[in-house]
Amino acid sequence: MAKHVYIKTFGCQMNERDSEIIEQLLAESGYIGVDDPGSADLILLNTCSIRAKAEQKVYSMLGQLRDEKIARPGLRIGVAGCVAQQEGEEIFRRMRHVDIVVGTQQIYRLPEMLARLESGESGRELAVDMHNDFAIPPFQKLLHGTGAAPSPAGGEYKKFVTIMQGCNNYCSYCVVPSTRGREVSRPVADILEEVRLLVGQGVREITLLGQNVNSYGRTNPVAAGPVTFADLLRQVAAIPGVERLRFTTSNPRDLSEELMRCFAELDNLCPQLHLPVQSGSNAILARMNRKYTVETYLDRVASLRRCQPDIALTTDIIVGFPGETEQDFEATMELLRTVRFHGSFSFKYSDRPNTRSADFADKVPEEIKSDRLQRFQSLQDEISLERNTGYIGKILDVMVESCSGQEAKGRTTTNHIVHFRSSRPLQPGDLVAVRVIHAGKHSLRGEPAPAAGQGNCSGKR
Ligand code: 5AD
Ligand code: SF4
Repeated sequence: MAKHVYIKTFGCQMNERDSEIIEQLLAESGYIGVDDPGSADLILLNTCSIRAKAEQKVYSMLGQLRDEKIARPGLRIGVAGCVAQQEGEEIFRRMRHVDIVVGTQQIYRLPEMLARLESGESGRELAVDMHNDFAIPPFQKLLHGTGAAPSPAGGEYKKFVTIMQGCNNYCSYCVVPSTRGREVSRPVADILEEVRLLVGQGVREITLLGQNVNSYGRTNPVAAGPVTFADLLRQVAAIPGVERLRFTTSNPRDLSEELMRCFAELDNLCPQLHLPVQSGSNAILARMNRKYTVETYLDRVASLRRCQPDIALTTDIIVGFPGETEQDFEATMELLRTVRFHGSFSFKYSDRPNTRSADFADKVPEEIKSDRLQRFQSLQDEISLERNTGYIGKILDVMVESCSGQEAKGRTTTNHIVHFRSSRPLQPGDLVAVRVIHAGKHSLRGEPAPAAGQGNCSGKR
């Protein structure tokens, strides 16, 4: 009889992609994915430990699952992802009802781990080794898809493609080098093959994924000759059928002129970039080990806007980093006023294990962090609303994400969410020209623009 697996994903797009791989892998072992944990034989939490709060969420959910396990002793509970990597056996000590702990580079082992549990060969399974390699055969097979994967033709029109894993930047606050390992670039040929495969299955939008995509190709030989991220981007953009191309995440330090020019040269590269700045104070950037200054960052923003005047920029900000004074924080507010990001993700600093800043003195009190976060977010909200208001009256190409009844939702090339009503049925992936009629701080509202006439709004893929 088929078994059911419920996977809950926390954190970033890396984890979302890993969850897809896990689902595909478990499908080969006879597991069917379900949306209801109550009907699952296996509950797997794919976890994030980027901030203390993210990790607490995982432990609190595991705590809640204790009763479920008592009620259904046959239920298996697994922890994957960054908390699994970071905590390892500690999870078994704190949560005795957990059966499996599998680290970020060991997910391909899940089927054998489950088999050992089921045969009674072992009572608990742990795999958290790091091999920092894309060359391991099972991993390659997974990244390429095995034919057993849920087909993207079932409505998936956009996909992530992993181009590298890990990170070598060692920002002083960041847990990622210890949870995801050293930076490793995936071979160009494998990436191109996966993109061709996806496009052949009906995928129209590709997002290239890595912790620090700008340093792609730097750490190890990935092709016959040297390859930069810009080279790779051009090659992916040239694949027929890639209608929209995006990438994430970029470190401002490694953003080359060559890469910025791609925004001017490649028609299908979406005019949108997430460029985390973290702070507007040079003193704090130095303590964060970011290796760029505010001035360099502003130069890069200016170059980007010269290459692509319509580019929508978003960023990440940490408030209350150890030693951050009111003056440092004001510098971050000033940077926001200068760049006027379309949107941002902002966080209160939290200490993470195995990071340098966890040992820094001058920790900022919680109430000051909360106050700064609130001030930053309300200024960002004002700016987002002003920027979004600037789109009113414009006709934008919207790729449909979902459609329920007549109410549709999609994204522009700039990654803005647009809600609109449509009298005809729409499928995910359809392109509709929409005139913007209303702006909110997080999304736009529009109506189909019949006069424009273009777009594939026929209701078919
Ligand atoms: N505390 C708070 N925020 C953090 N981030 C990363 N590490 C920490 C930390 N220790 C934020 C950064 C990063 C985003 C993914 O999470 O802004 O870009
Ligand atoms: Fe969270 Fe970072 Fe791990 Fe992604 S890589 S899941 S953001 S800790």
